[in-house]
Amino acid sequence: MPDSEIKNNYEPKIVAFFCNWCTYTAADLAGVSRLKYAPNVRVIRIMCSGRVDPQFILQAFASGADGVLIGGCHPGDCHYSEGNYKMLRRFRLLKRMLKSLGIAEKRLRLEWISASEGEKVKSVINEMVEQLKVLGPLAIPQSLDKINEELKEIPEEEIREEEPAHA
Ligand code: FES
Repeated sequence: MPDSEIKNNYEPKIVAFFCNWCTYTAADLAGVSRLKYAPNVRVIRIMCSGRVDPQFILQAFASGADGVLIGGCHPGDCHYSEGNYKMLRRFRLLKRMLKSLGIAEKRLRLEWISASEGEKVKSVINEMVEQLKVLGPLAIPQSLDKINEELKEIPEEEIREEEPAHA
């Protein structure tokens, strides 16, 4: 099959980690309201965006995801006080790490989406799918698996508390 045909038929896979209290509920609202978003996303419900370990993200890419989306409560609205700020710090760190691996920044996205923002869930997912289609399938750098393994060896506190709160 020619490259152009592969690209035309390409449907990116997105793994989404959605906070139970906001973005997951918003995704549910989008469904109930019949707001159509692309079916390319597999949603994993978590209790707080702060629960997303960097390893989950690397694992998602290593397992074939073309993009990873994280949805959390707006700043100041986290049910666990600072979980979303912690996620933001990890997100910045991960962006730098992915960049050094040659993985495009747009493959990882963090959005604050409250429970009432079903429309935003739809627009973020649809936009991300279009961006990933332009980027094409992710060619996994072989080093990703190695880094993923190394990350398992690092104590959790070292990954989580690298910067002061309220970045
Ligand atoms: S409870 Fe939603 S981001 Fe923390």
